[in-house]
Amino acid sequence: NKPRILVARAVFPHIIELLEQHFEVEHNQADAAWSKADLIARLHGKAGAFTTGGERIDAELLAACPELKICANMAVGYNNFDLPAMTARQVLGTNTPDVLTETTADFGFALLMATARRVTESEHFLRAGKWSKWSYDMFAGSDVHGSTLGILGMGRIGQGIARRGAHGFGMHVIYHNRSRLTPDLEAACKARYVGKDELLAQADHLVLVLPYSAESHHAIGAAELAKMKPTANLINIARGGIVDDAALAKALKEKRIAAAGLDVFEGEPKVHPDLLTVPNVVLTPHIASATVPTRQAMAKLAADNLVGFLVHGKPLTPLNPEVLKG
Ligand code: GLV
Ligand code: GLV
Repeated sequence: NKPRILVARAVFPHIIELLEQHFEVEHNQADAAWSKADLIARLHGKAGAFTTGGERIDAELLAACPELKICANMAVGYNNFDLPAMTARQVLGTNTPDVLTETTADFGFALLMATARRVTESEHFLRAGKWSKWSYDMFAGSDVHGSTLGILGMGRIGQGIARRGAHGFGMHVIYHNRSRLTPDLEAACKARYVGKDELLAQADHLVLVLPYSAESHHAIGAAELAKMKPTANLINIARGGIVDDAALAKALKEKRIAAAGLDVFEGEPKVHPDLLTVPNVVLTPHIASATVPTRQAMAKLAADNLVGFLVHGKPLTPLNPEVLKG
């Protein structure tokens, strides 16, 4: 009698095959958009859920699915989990740290450089047939090398971005975080700890890499944008909701900051309409971890967490390990 699990979104067929060796698997291979009621109905009677970050696991769902023991998120962020409610019901949560760190840091740089050097804006211009002559200031952007890189949120991904900036581009790296790095880590990243106001005031390129929570909601709003340099770029590869998108669109339109690169949005996949009409912003659809090897590694880790916990009692990357003692 294999445990029953639900895979809430489409995922690599080889991962489904791996899961089917251990579980009776119901999967959403058609990738249908399920309402909350659909999700609850499918999850009822299942011991495990393979989630991808879009499925909200809250007290209401947990109460309706008393047999649920684990939700394995195929994402490092887990703001779709009400972790205290899961812990109260003895439901384990897992995420996919480490396997996506370098890939996501690469993308932070891709967005930073595309934004600083106006790559997508100038490509649109060329494709639209508007390139008729060279001119001295055509798509002149800002420099990356030698500039000041500010990082808000200095976890694994933040450190990966700092290392790239310091060692690859000779950037001066400053950061702000809830806690300071150890001197060894600061030295490896060549990063200097500063207060949030100094970070905002000094950064030429400010990259957001902090987890979303009630405390980080609108960590960058009108007041923070007003403290930034008018020449600054803002990059968000963390979560929608960390930036007040309406305030950002207004700041970009009024050229209060130079540009922004955004991979995540409040209420995505919807995007604030004003962001779609300002030219000085690069917009991507939440793809910072999207390389083939990394997405495979994330899916494998989420599957290994389900097998590890439901079959062997040992998950690899538990978020609320206190559940294991219960
Ligand atoms: C993606 O946003 C993730 O949290 O892994
Ligand atoms: C996520 O892995 C982070 O710590 O930045």
